[in-house]
Formats: sequence, C-alpha cells, structure tokens
Amino acid sequence: MKIAVFVSGGGTNLQAIIDNTKNGILQDIEIALVLSSSPDAYALERANSNGIKSVVIRSKDYPSKADWDQAMTDAVISSGAELIVLAGYLSLLGPKIVGAFSNRIINIHPSLIPSFCGPGMYGIKPHIAALARGVKVSGATVHFVNENYDSGPILLQKTVDILPDDTPERLQKRIMEECEWQILPKAIRLIADGRVEINNNIAYIR
Ligand code: GRF
Repeated sequence: MKIAVFVSGGGTNLQAIIDNTKNGILQDIEIALVLSSSPDAYALERANSNGIKSVVIRSKDYPSKADWDQAMTDAVISSGAELIVLAGYLSLLGPKIVGAFSNRIINIHPSLIPSFCGPGMYGIKPHIAALARGVKVSGATVHFVNENYDSGPILLQKTVDILPDDTPERLQKRIMEECEWQILPKAIRLIADGRVEINNNIAYIR
C-alpha cells in the first residue's frame, strides 16, 4: 500500500514510519509522498535523505481555500496513496480532501482524546494542560480525521504514567518515544491489513 505523510515540523513521527518501512512492521508500505505545510520543516530533509518525494503546499500560495484544498487533493491522488497520515501536520484539512479520502486519513495527537485536544492544542500545550489538571496518566491517540479538530473515530491509544518530577517537556518527550512512535506505525499496519471497520463514528479492530 502507498501512503502520503503530511508534516509541518520536525518529523520524528515521519522518521518512525520511515524506520518501520526499512526494518520494522511496514516493510510492504511505500511512502509515496511527503506533503509539508512549511518549506522550513525539518521533516522535508528526512524525506529527501531517504529518497522520498516531497512537496510544499501552503494555503497562502493559492487564491482561495478551495484552490488550496484542490491542490492538496490532486497531489495525493497523483501520488497513488490510499491512506493519508497526518504526522505533526498543523493545518485543518479542507472538505474536498476529507471527502475524497473518507475514513482514509489518520492523525496522531499527543493526549488521550477527548482530553486536551481541539483548536490550539498542539505542540507543548496539551502537556502543559495535562500537568496543570493533575491527571495521573496521559498518552497519545491515533484517530481518523474529519473536518473538525481531533473529533473523528479513535483507532489506538497508549498511555504513560505521570511522574512526580515531570515537566511539560519531559512528558512530551516520553509520550513521543513510548506512545506516538509506536502507535502511529501500528495504526498504518492495521489499516493496510484491512482490519479496521468504522460504524457510527466508532472504529473497530477485527
Ligand atoms: C507530535 O507530538 C504529534 O503528536 C503532534 O505534533 C508533534 C509532531 O512531532 N501532532 P514530529 O513533527 O512528528 O516530530
């Protein structure tokens, strides 16, 4: 199966996917396209140094949101990708691409949805909010994507305990290493194997 990975930043989740296509659970998966919302994303260097085709598509370069949405949709369709993986991608997708890839777009979010998610909850912010609330566990969620932030069916979640000396930065690092880099490749595996069904906004793993 071919996939497209959308990025905006450092791309450590992209790297986890790349590593799994080489030596892990995704050896039959091809990353056909890396699409970035920013020309400065380090994720683009990861794509280039691994021989993966990449493209930068920014909404500000298009006359309208509809044109931007169409360009994104066209780029993925022409890559042959059947699944879109949002790996640290910060823009809300448009209706065209969401409709064209219905139940074929997943996102990784660094909290246990429905806690600490939604508009503005990106980067370090979910971890600041989790510690401020005094939760005893946090973690990451892979969910399907619709037109609203972080509200599609939940596919996988993984937790870490909050430790007494946690800072937002320490919690962020632990959640990336122990949760995100594990469950995002695992989610791609489950979908590629046809093991995921969605009914009434609930994802079931067969
Ligand atoms: C990750 O924490 C991810 O959960 C969130 O954005 C961050 C991206 O990190 N959506 P990276 O670009 O994959 O390193």
